[in-house]
Amino acid sequence: MDSEMYLPLLVLFLSVVPLMKCSDWCYTGCVETPSHWGEIQGSSCEGHYQSPINIVTSSVTTDPMLHSFTFVNFSSQHTIKSIINNGHTVECTLMDNEVEMSGGGLNGTYSAVQFHFHWGDTEHHPGSEHTVDGHRYQIEMHIVTLKKHVTVEEAKKQHDGFAVLGFFINATEDGDLSGPWHTLTSNLTDITANGSDVEVNFNFSIDDLIGNVDRTKFYRYYGSLTTPNCNEAVVWTIFHEPIQVHKDLVKLFSMNTSIVNNYRPVHSLNGRKVTASPATPLPPKPHWCYDSHCDYNPAYWHKLPESHCDGKSQSPINIDTHSVMMDDTLGSFKFTNFDNKDAIKYITNTGHTVECVLKDNMVEVSGGGLKHVYSTLQFHFHWGTEAPSSQGSEHTVDSHRYPMELHIVSKRKDLSLDEALQEPDGLAVLGFFIEAKSTSSSKSEMIPWTKLTEYFSAIENISAEVEVTEQISIDDLLGSVNRDSYYRYSGSLTTPSCNEAVVWTVFKETVKVDQNLMEMFPKYTAYEDTYRPVQKVNDRKIYSTSAARASGPIILYPLLACLFALVQ
Ligand SMILES: *[C@@H]1O[C@H](CO)[C@@H](O)[C@H](O)[C@H]1NC(C)=O
Ligand SMILES: *[C@@H]1O[C@H](CO)[C@@H](O)[C@H](O)[C@H]1NC(C)=O
Ligand SMILES: *[C@@H]1O[C@H](CO)[C@@H](O)[C@H](O)[C@H]1NC(C)=O
Ligand SMILES: *[C@@H]1O[C@H](CO)[C@@H](O)[C@H](O)[C@H]1NC(C)=O
Ligand SMILES: *[C@@H]1O[C@H](CO)[C@@H](O)[C@H](O)[C@H]1NC(C)=O
Ligand SMILES: *[C@@H]1O[C@H](CO)[C@@H](O)[C@H](O)[C@H]1NC(C)=O
Ligand SMILES: *[C@@H]1O[C@H](CO)[C@@H](O)[C@H](O)[C@H]1NC(C)=O
Ligand SMILES: *[C@@H]1O[C@H](CO)[C@@H](O)[C@H](O)[C@H]1NC(C)=O
Ligand SMILES: [Zn+2]
Ligand SMILES: [Zn+2]
Repeated sequence: MDSEMYLPLLVLFLSVVPLMKCSDWCYTGCVETPSHWGEIQGSSCEGHYQSPINIVTSSVTTDPMLHSFTFVNFSSQHTIKSIINNGHTVECTLMDNEVEMSGGGLNGTYSAVQFHFHWGDTEHHPGSEHTVDGHRYQIEMHIVTLKKHVTVEEAKKQHDGFAVLGFFINATEDGDLSGPWHTLTSNLTDITANGSDVEVNFNFSIDDLIGNVDRTKFYRYYGSLTTPNCNEAVVWTIFHEPIQVHKDLVKLFSMNTSIVNNYRPVHSLNGRKVTASPATPLPPKPHWCYDSHCDYNPAYWHKLPESHCDGKSQSPINIDTHSVMMDDTLGSFKFTNFDNKDAIKYITNTGHTVECVLKDNMVEVSGGGLKHVYSTLQFHFHWGTEAPSSQGSEHTVDSHRYPMELHIVSKRKDLSLDEALQEPDGLAVLGFFIEAKSTSSSKSEMIPWTKLTEYFSAIENISAEVEVTEQISIDDLLGSVNRDSYYRYSGSLTTPSCNEAVVWTVFKETVKVDQNLMEMFPKYTAYEDTYRPVQKVNDRKIYSTSAARASGPIILYPLLACLFALVQ
């Protein structure tokens, strides 16, 4: 039973040299160095979700679901079975099915199998596999665990079949020269020979090695084993705090084992996200703004981390009605639950806009020439100043800027938000210009807008949010605006990170809102002119619904424009 469990694991993780002559990969000094691991038969080493990675802390986001771990028998002093030098690393094997962990955002319980190390050479050349903001630590310890009740073969096929805990080791000038790290490193000399497997009677636990590292502070991402066959089956946990070990003990890994620099180079994230537990300290997010009173105003948005703001398909744009192309395929939209008066979950002041967040999976948009069904997430506003003549829309039409613009943001229903941000049509945004009615509107038309703006006094503070209990539907806010007459182009989010993932719909007719209600936006938030300057159209085409489809005064507009063009 023991050996059955043991052998496949050895084959998978260790590729133990004496047992498996086929395993002739290496870090240096042979043909199959890391850049050639992809050529090894059956290997995934050239996959897209490889490990290790460099963790860029400014791009890491906090995930509240990353709760604390529960560790079982990490404090037991009788769990380390043997220590072995397999030619690639020094590994301590653990008693079968005794050491376990769960929690930490993992799906289920994992059983620890072994732990091993990656190091550099001498104390001056560090050798951790993961790096943090480019910093490579001296050593990295990996505690390898396997999902409980899952075979190794099954685990290899799951994205979280294995969970590996990575601990960095920092070499300190002083500290404990006896203790568990002394016992461990003094045994390195006994195992210099390739593949020698020394039964040990270590009287220390895994906890003793980890010491006082705060295990509530960690990073999380999905990746691979870092040795061939690099199976993309690992949920990685990298702890923020390093284990402090005296430099005289650290150097024994390279000096007493005849293995040096046994770390794989870092790999690209390829769209993956790294998250962190709530306790993990992250650098403050750089502050961006619209005006010139911060480091990152629109002219510098492209310098923000992960920014796409200097791309070629950015939004907003000026819509030049003389160069738009009529497109008969731009038909009517299908709006699902736009009439639902309970769809708004809460309203919040983001510091950049007032945003109404909708309940999950309730409101949808499709049709209108869109190739997918989109799930509506939120709507928000762009505005100018409190002045009656102020103009604050993002898009302009023939260089005319409107007083305000409403954006209804929807995400492809078949994708997660992260996935949608990577696709050119991952998001669909409906843009409506807002302007004041020439004649004062009837009271009843303004009731939904009055209800909405009455919440503003509760969200004067940035980040404040308030539950919306009033009956307000999106249809109520849009009123009788013609939704069959619009422009269409491909663009980006108009705020950092400006991902070029948006199918834009800009409606021709304006939504009418009383001037005094429009003034509430800059008044209560105390920020104004919340629009990005228009971006270059470059070689993009702007399409328009056919004039014939339009109704009301809109029908005349393109005609008049043509007439004027002829006259000039
Ligand atoms: C913890 O280890 C002891 C032996 O040291 C073992 O009897 C016990 O079953 C282990 N606990 C778990 C949950 O595996
Ligand atoms: C957790 O694992 C179970 C069994 O493997 C699976 O059915 C379930 O979908 C997983 N849940 C999540 C959130 O991944
Ligand atoms: C690593 O150890 C050095 C020397 O003791 C110390 O100055 C440094 O703060 C430590 N780094 C971390 C991240 O703990
Ligand atoms: C370990 O084994 C490999 C392959 O068999 C060999 O190339 C290497 O020299 C050996 N190292 C030691 C320290 O014996
Ligand atoms: C190796 O570890 C054992 C405990 O298993 C300890 O008694 C021994 O002193 C260590 N070896 C050396 C060379 O220190
Ligand atoms: C382990 O044994 C050594 C002596 O061999 C002793 O010095 C050390 O304190 C013991 N450690 C623990 C954690 O019991
Ligand atoms: C281990 O490394 C230390 C430090 O260089 C050295 O003094 C010692 O002789 C080495 N031991 C063996 C057995 O190689
Ligand atoms: C806004 O913040 C101030 C100061 O922190 C606080 O006194 C006030 O109650 C907050 N207002 C609201 C509406 O939460
Ligand atoms: Zn490893
Ligand atoms: Zn917007």
